Amino acid sequence: MEYRHLGKAGIQVSELSFGSWVTFHNQVNATAAVDMMSAAYEAGVNFFDNAEVYAGGKSEEVMGTALKQLGWRRGSYLVSTKFYWGIHDNVNEKSTLNRKRLIEGINGSLKRLRLDYVDLIYCHRPDKTTPIEETVWAMHNIIEWGKAIYWGTSEWSAAEIVATIEIAERHHLHKPITEQPVYNLFERHRFTREYERVYKDYGYGTTIWSPLASGLLSGKYSQGIPSDSRAALKGYDWLHDHVTDRDKLAKVQALEPIAQELNCTLSQLSLAWCLKNPFVSTVITGASRVEQIHENMKAAEVAPKLTPEILERIDQIFEVKEEEED
Ligand SMILES: NC(=O)c1ccc[n+]([C@@H]2O[C@H](COP(=O)([O-])OP(=O)(O)OC[C@H]3O[C@@H](n4cnc5c(N)ncnc54)[C@H](OP(=O)(O)O)[C@@H]3O)[C@@H](O)[C@H]2O)c1
Repeated sequence: MEYRHLGKAGIQVSELSFGSWVTFHNQVNATAAVDMMSAAYEAGVNFFDNAEVYAGGKSEEVMGTALKQLGWRRGSYLVSTKFYWGIHDNVNEKSTLNRKRLIEGINGSLKRLRLDYVDLIYCHRPDKTTPIEETVWAMHNIIEWGKAIYWGTSEWSAAEIVATIEIAERHHLHKPITEQPVYNLFERHRFTREYERVYKDYGYGTTIWSPLASGLLSGKYSQGIPSDSRAALKGYDWLHDHVTDRDKLAKVQALEPIAQELNCTLSQLSLAWCLKNPFVSTVITGASRVEQIHENMKAAEVAPKLTPEILERIDQIFEVKEEEED
């Protein structure tokens, strides 16, 4: 496992990390979480991603219980959480980044995670109704109180990120250091085009999500929806059209010969492709069982095999033209 700086920040994250969206509480209980986090940690993962909204707070509880049992030295790992949607359907508590919500949010998350502080807090989405300045001050104060170390954004526009950094600089407040955007073979446009200035001019880091497009890129959906897969879970019907899309499935199938040539699985190839982008600080992997973690962590060994010629063949499959990538 290699470690990359989170943008220009001093902190380093394992190039492959581990997140709990969908899985913790819904598919993975605390006992299984101990096994899974342990498999990831032993492979060199030092960053574990969470959010207060995942399973309505239960994902943080599962991770907190697992961390307690694992008893790792606190300096050896990083934990993140995120705020925006909230867990109570109430005015001032839903889809907001207001100061009161953020401060109550961090206190609740720390309790559920059983931690004194988290390493990273994200604004999970932009809030168009709260002034950015109010959010920046709240994040700054949370960091000053020692409840978080760094903060970042998730799915904010480049313009919003730049405005936020500039407000923080103007007031000498803690600036956000990283974005958490989607990035995978199917969804690369915003990452490669819109954010370019934010990486280059501001040294912003990225912790990218859904690298397997919710499992589609593993090839598991080629014969329909397996009963033990994410798309078969109750409440995830919205994934059906995505994982059964014929055009997407054909592209995944077309990757198979490349995976065979490189002697790796489709999941490893797709994760390795994400790792090849130098603006990716860490690829947040997801898994519903330990075997997937063992498989996915080997993607780090596959990445060096992705030569410019192989990357070009992959681009042809995904119909990406050179000017789209520059
Ligand atoms: N900031 C945001 O808005 C945001 C949004 C989404 C996610 N995230 C973060 O990013 C993390 C990763 O996202 P994601 O879970 O969507 O990642 P993903 O890699 O696209 O999908 C992970 C899922 O794919 C399946 N899978 C993984 N490895 C596999 C393998 N080797 N073979 C077959 N199936 C495999 C598993 O589902 P099944 O086994 O159940 O099919 C697993 O739960 C999340 O945990 C979360 O921390 C952030």
